[in-house]
Amino acid sequence: MGIENAVPRIVPGSANPTLAARVCALLGIEQVAAALERFPDGELRPAVGDVRDRDVYVLGTTGGHVHDQLMELLLLLDACRRCGAARVTAVVPYFAYARQDRRTGPGQGIGAKVVADLLVGAGAQRLVVVDPHTQALAAMVPSVVETVSAVDTLAAALRPVPPDAVLVAPDLGAAKLAERYAAHLDLPVAVVRKTRLSGTAVRAERLAGDVAGRHPIVVDDMISTGGTVEAAARLCADAGATEELTVAASHGLFCGSAPAVFGELPVKRLLVTDSVTPPESVPVRVCSLAPLLADTIARLSGMRSRS
Ligand code: R5P
Repeated sequence: MGIENAVPRIVPGSANPTLAARVCALLGIEQVAAALERFPDGELRPAVGDVRDRDVYVLGTTGGHVHDQLMELLLLLDACRRCGAARVTAVVPYFAYARQDRRTGPGQGIGAKVVADLLVGAGAQRLVVVDPHTQALAAMVPSVVETVSAVDTLAAALRPVPPDAVLVAPDLGAAKLAERYAAHLDLPVAVVRKTRLSGTAVRAERLAGDVAGRHPIVVDDMISTGGTVEAAARLCADAGATEELTVAASHGLFCGSAPAVFGELPVKRLLVTDSVTPPESVPVRVCSLAPLLADTIARLSGMRSRS
């Protein structure tokens, strides 16, 4: 491909400036300046500094104000391409719309595929994502997808775990994730069967696995409204688990009623990463993805990471 300078150029989106700054500090490089102008009608116009002939990583997450963030990311990718970057990689720690990876009802589209196509169409030659909701994402993107995981980071932060703990997957989709935590923490796994009734309502129906007398550690790829965790916690308590629980998720969006849900649940420890900046109203421990992303960028660009 002929990129002569292996030192990557990091272009930060405005969604997560702290994470971008940490990644750059670990790599020992300066961020590329990126300015964002907002027009009165809501249009965005980002502009990037010097990226010509360089290996460029646009770091833009898509949690929070999802459509503004997505649009900004697309415009930044396009700007890098048009400013002569030799290669452009979109680093999207939280990939929104990944839950729409299939049609679950009549009349629907496949949102994950639409977003993947938009990123590639805007100029992303590669994509870096952290624990996407669907592994099918890699098949939807017609270019290289580097999927990395926060499980090592979060599992390390969960230690020491109570000896009587049990990992709980709050739905079938989280079962594999729970198995990966189990491999780190040497704990048994229980799985909840959940039905989603709407974007804000779920029903936890059955529990497979023994939680009686045990401390539940609920693990999931993401927390949105907190309804999934709440339903799992109640089902575990009904099945005789200790009332107090621990929760770990790769992405903490904490939308809508989530602060109230976590204000009421007897959660002893709540861990998420900084893929999305959590609201101050939720007492959460944030484990930074910066070392993981810095290592990934260093590996992809051919430079060595200092982390
Ligand atoms: C869905 O399957 C995801 O893995 C999460 O369980 C879900 O998105 C969490 O959403 P909420 O917090 O609103 O229940």
